[in-house]
Amino acid sequence: HFMNEVSGFNLLEQHLKDKLQLDHVIVVPGNSDEHDWVKQELGKACVNYLKLMLQSNQTIAVTGGTSMAAVAEMMHPLEKARDCMFVPARGGLGERVENQANTICVEMARKAKGQYRLLYVPDPLSEESYQSIIGEPSVKEALELIRDADVVIHGIGDALTMAKRRKTSEEVLEKIVQGNAISEAFGYYFDSEGQVVHKVRTVGIQLEDLSDTNCVIAVAGGESKAKAITSYFKEGKSNVLITDEAAANELLREI
Ligand code: G3H
Repeated sequence: HFMNEVSGFNLLEQHLKDKLQLDHVIVVPGNSDEHDWVKQELGKACVNYLKLMLQSNQTIAVTGGTSMAAVAEMMHPLEKARDCMFVPARGGLGERVENQANTICVEMARKAKGQYRLLYVPDPLSEESYQSIIGEPSVKEALELIRDADVVIHGIGDALTMAKRRKTSEEVLEKIVQGNAISEAFGYYFDSEGQVVHKVRTVGIQLEDLSDTNCVIAVAGGESKAKAITSYFKEGKSNVLITDEAAANELLREI
């Protein structure tokens, strides 16, 4: 039975890899919509993958969210990758503190026995504040590290769920609804074709920066996220997906 399950998942992984044209796909059992332990399994799978591919002195940029928090929860010392640096990919995006990229970075660095640099910026930012803040020496230093990250790890969310969770203004919510946004990642909201409907003005990685990064890992599971994952990958620059069985099966029905 165990072998069947393993080969079944290998097939699922292979199908998703082909359909989404990715370099690597990992599927864990279960549905993270229903059980929190499945999200922890996603976190564990991500940590194991990092252990295989990370090298010493590399920089890892991470976003916020509960899936990234699960990666941080499961993090442990990366013996082969010494002195790695963890940085937040972008600003806080209105998330509660435990789900902000800064908080997650600190926990990952502590558990991996690495370093961290944080971003102390309010967001969303007006255009004027954005321009003056990115000129600040301390912010500039952190931003250089972030934009040169060797590896980026991020979550993918359902657009409306994310907009509501982040207490988005009525005006922006309207824009997201009118634009038929389906998915969210990095504070960008995408429609079913992967086109940007709205982008939260904040410092850090911009979508364009991802093309220069060799390894961009998306961690997203749960049947309810299948549509969002499909939408994100229409134009998504990520090359690795770590997901669960429920999302994977639903994804394959859709695409
Ligand atoms: O940045 C947040 C993600 O897009 C989704 O968050 O992992 O809590 O579902 P989540």
